[in-house]
Amino acid sequence: MASADQTRKTASGDSGKATSGDIASRLLDWYDVHHRELPWRITPREHARGARPDPYRIWLSEVMLQQTTVEAVKAYFKVFVEKWPDVEALAAAPTEDVMKAWAGLGYYSRARNLKACADLVAQRGGRFPDTEAALRELPGIGAYTSAAITAIAFDRPAAVVDGNVERVISRLFSITTPLSEAKPEIRAHVERMVPGTRPGDFAQAMMDLGATICTPRRPRCMLCPLREDCSAVISGDPEHFPVRLPKADKPLRRGAAFVAVRSDGAILLRKRAEKGLLGGMTEVPTTGWTARIDGATTEAAAPFPANWRRAGQIAHVFTHFALELDVFRAEVNGAAPSGHFWSLAHEISGEALPTVMKKAIEAAIPGATKKPSPHSAKRPHD
Ligand code: ADE
Repeated sequence: MASADQTRKTASGDSGKATSGDIASRLLDWYDVHHRELPWRITPREHARGARPDPYRIWLSEVMLQQTTVEAVKAYFKVFVEKWPDVEALAAAPTEDVMKAWAGLGYYSRARNLKACADLVAQRGGRFPDTEAALRELPGIGAYTSAAITAIAFDRPAAVVDGNVERVISRLFSITTPLSEAKPEIRAHVERMVPGTRPGDFAQAMMDLGATICTPRRPRCMLCPLREDCSAVISGDPEHFPVRLPKADKPLRRGAAFVAVRSDGAILLRKRAEKGLLGGMTEVPTTGWTARIDGATTEAAAPFPANWRRAGQIAHVFTHFALELDVFRAEVNGAAPSGHFWSLAHEISGEALPTVMKKAIEAAIPGATKKPSPHSAKRPHD
């Protein structure tokens, strides 16, 4: 990857010349001391001694991190590598078990793609490819993830650009183009900066800088190894970057969820269709979720007659819409209707229950879904 010089004003007001190489090397020096310890990582010291990360662990962590925070991923990652320490073990696992272990992480198509990818890699001998192009051919691996795996697992130069990196670059070069349109410009900057040596550590250093110093609010510029190179610091208002267009409100959809409880505490569940939102996950019976103002949200819309009583309302935000569900509860005994099954309270935490369904059950039966496990991890969306 090419390296080019850039001339900018330094924070002291002098005209200074910082090359892309200078910036990368300042960042790597900072990373050697201030890197985050993360369960899928090797440290810079281990790396310098010749250790190499396990591509399986890097791939798994990157897929988990696609839409989920580092803090939430840590516990799930540990569970996964304990249960399935390598790609062959994951390929040999039943899909249902993988979906259950993923429950609560959100964006469930990731789990299905994870399994499909493990199956393919295991079939091909268990080795992950080491180029962006070949990685992108695999299920669930897009531009970002292929670049991250190439850089981190194989220490090959690749431009790894996530939200943290976008913020760092937008500030470093005080990019005034709104972020949604600035992506090619940001990528070009990163491509110029990626060093020929330690490109994996460079990628992780950028992420760590964005996560710990160059934060969205109140960035800690005084501690930043790049402060003298940073145009946004010079501007006096680093928080102004990245520039964003005003957000459109998410559309609201409404519906009803029906929590049927048996006398021994079991809850009636069913499996969602494989395709579509939350595909293949477990749910309590619900109506469709509609944007219509008169959408069916009363007990009249219940899947079968029972003494349904309103237990509350829950709200949940998905990527493309916000959802409000009226929750109804009834005591019901007897055989589960066709397509449904009973799950006892102590079994329910083993179900592949998305967060929105846990919220609905909690509204009807407080405490029913709680268990000591990573499944209480907080996420932005699910
Ligand atoms: N976000 C995405 N990938 C990451 C990684 N490897 N380390 C830290 N944060 C990340």
